[in-house]
Formats: sequence, C-alpha cells, structure tokens
Amino acid sequence: MVKNILITGASGLIGTRLTTLLHEKGYRIAHLSRTTRSGNAQTFLWNVDKNQLDPAAIQPAHAIIHLAGAGVADKPWTKERKNEIISSRTLSTRLLYDELKKGNHQVRTFISASGIGYYGSDDSENFFTENDKTGDDFLADVVRRWEEAADQIAELGIRVVKIRIGVVLSEKGGALQEIMRPVKFYAGAPLGSGKQYVSWIHLDDLCNLFIKTLEDETLQGVYNAVAPHPVTNKELTYAIAKALNKPLIIPAVPSFVLKLLLGEMADLVLKGAKVSGQKIQSAGFRFKFEHIQDALKDLLVK
Ligand SMILES: NC(=O)c1ccc[n+]([C@@H]2O[C@H](COP(=O)([O-])OP(=O)(O)OC[C@H]3O[C@@H](n4cnc5c(N)ncnc54)[C@H](OP(=O)(O)O)[C@@H]3O)[C@@H](O)[C@H]2O)c1
Repeated sequence: MVKNILITGASGLIGTRLTTLLHEKGYRIAHLSRTTRSGNAQTFLWNVDKNQLDPAAIQPAHAIIHLAGAGVADKPWTKERKNEIISSRTLSTRLLYDELKKGNHQVRTFISASGIGYYGSDDSENFFTENDKTGDDFLADVVRRWEEAADQIAELGIRVVKIRIGVVLSEKGGALQEIMRPVKFYAGAPLGSGKQYVSWIHLDDLCNLFIKTLEDETLQGVYNAVAPHPVTNKELTYAIAKALNKPLIIPAVPSFVLKLLLGEMADLVLKGAKVSGQKIQSAGFRFKFEHIQDALKDLLVK
C-alpha cells in the first residue's frame, strides 16, 4: 500500500529535501503550509495564529511529519519574535492535536522535529544523550515546550517520535552557508573561544533518519539526530576553509563583538553541546557521513 505522508513546514530546508527523498521511495506526499507556494506536492493550508487548519489535509494521511516553526536564526530575538518562535511550534502542534482528537483519520505515526538546543550548552567533553535533562536558556525552553506539545499526541494512541536535530549541513542554506560566506571572502575565523561544540548532521543523513523513524514502527520517543563525530567551532571553521581552499587570516572573532552585534542571539554561535547520535545507531540507522571532512567534501567540493 502506498502511504500518504503529510508534512508541515515542508517548504523549508529539511522539508524540501525530505519530500524529494520520500517521493523517490514511492510515498504520496502532501504539504500543510501557510501559503500555496510550498512546492512539489499537493498543498493544504493552515493558519496557526488564527487556529485554522484544512481538515482535508489530515483525513488521507497515514503519518504526519511536523517541521513547521519560525526560523530561530532568521530575525533578532525581540520579545515578539521569541513569542513567535515558541507559538509557531507549540500552537501548531496543538492545532494538529485538536484535529487528530476528532478521530476522523487514519494517522498512526506523528514525527516531530525538535532540536539539540534542548540540552542548553556545555563546553565539556561529555556527550549529551537523550536521557539528559533540559538546559536553562531560551532555546532549551522552546524545545521543552515543543516536545511537551508533541507528547500530548501520544495520548491519542498515535506513535510519536521526536527528533532532536543538530546543526544541519547543506549546500542549499542553513548554518553552512552562514559560516562559509566570510571564509570565501578571507574574513572567516573561529567564533569566541572556538571551543564550543557543533553537533552537526548532513542534510541527507537527517532526511534518511526521518525515513528510518517513519518506517520502523518499533521506534518511539526521542532520538538525537547528530553525526557520530561532533567538532568544535574552530575545527569546523578550519575544515570549511580547507574544503574551500581558502586561508584563515583572522585569528578569532571575540565573544563580546558577537554579543554586541547579535545580543542574546549570539548564543546560537557562542554556545554549543557535544551530543551523541548513538541511540539511533543502536536502532540500526547507519550514517553515510560520519566525519566532517566527508560531509564537507560531498557538499562543497564539486
Ligand atoms: N536546519 C537546522 O539546522 C535545524 C536544527 C534544529 C532544528 N531544526 C528544526 O527543524 C524544523 C525544520 O527546519 P528547516 O531548517 O527546514 O526550517 P526552515 O527552512 O526555516 O523551514 C521551516 C518552515 O516552517 C514554516 N514556518 C515558518 N514560520 C512559521 C510560522 N510562524 N508559523 C508556522 N509555520 C512557519 C515555513 O513553511 P511554510 O511557509 O510552508 O508554512 C518554513 O518553510 C524547524 O522547526 C527547525 O527549528 C532545524
């Protein structure tokens, strides 16, 4: 039987690639979006702020993959923006819950994006695992509330998987593009101490990990989505410079400069955590890109 998958936020970096890979595997894909411009699948509309969702999106779906959320690095963290970052995740999940609770559907699996921001930050050499507790900064609070909203869906008897995504590396956008830009113009440098860990994952590995949790119905609960070998910010910057064949001239960008420029948002680059991807590997998932050099070679060296 061909399975119908509904993806929210599918017009973004992860959803676009995931849609392509699921199509290649023969799945029927629909998108739930704020606009009809969401790309290569049938698109249904919702408006999270107005609590509106087209019920026709849910009825044919066998599984929902929930990626929607206002970008955490897209705009300055004003009070208003922080509220949007939270509500676009929690209220959207609640809207899906309310529709699923009505019962007129065949959804058996709900897979929610989550983030390794859950753990807060720590420069130590210890790996965070799924059993560790949440951190105490803004992003940790966002992720905790997002996961709590997803957990409510499990109360409806639906299998729920939460994927704590690391820093996604892609040639199409996201963190890699931001780090690469100054390196290309000979202005790249480690940020702050450079010792903060970047627990990264190649976009294709991430999408295949989503597909693994979709297809393996024994999996439920939380899984970190990070490659087995995290690197420090300094190691990542040097690896990118090497892959691009560009020298690094500036020794480092001091933390205070980034804090002046970005305010609290500087946390995104100055803080990090060394996160373990062992749990999903123990469940049988195999990463194609385990080491940063292999991922960057695939993404940057054409
Ligand atoms: N990329 C990463 O490194 C990373 C790391 C950790 C966690 N994640 C999480 O994984 C999810 C997908 O990541 P991504 O990189 O694909 O994100 P993305 O490129 O920013 O796409 C997210 C999508 O969410 C929808 N969206 C944006 N603002 C919204 C709002 N205010 N209300 C409702 N929907 C909204 C949009 O889809 P429509 O315009 O079609 O509605 C957008 O295309 C996100 O929730 C993100 O936080 C990503």
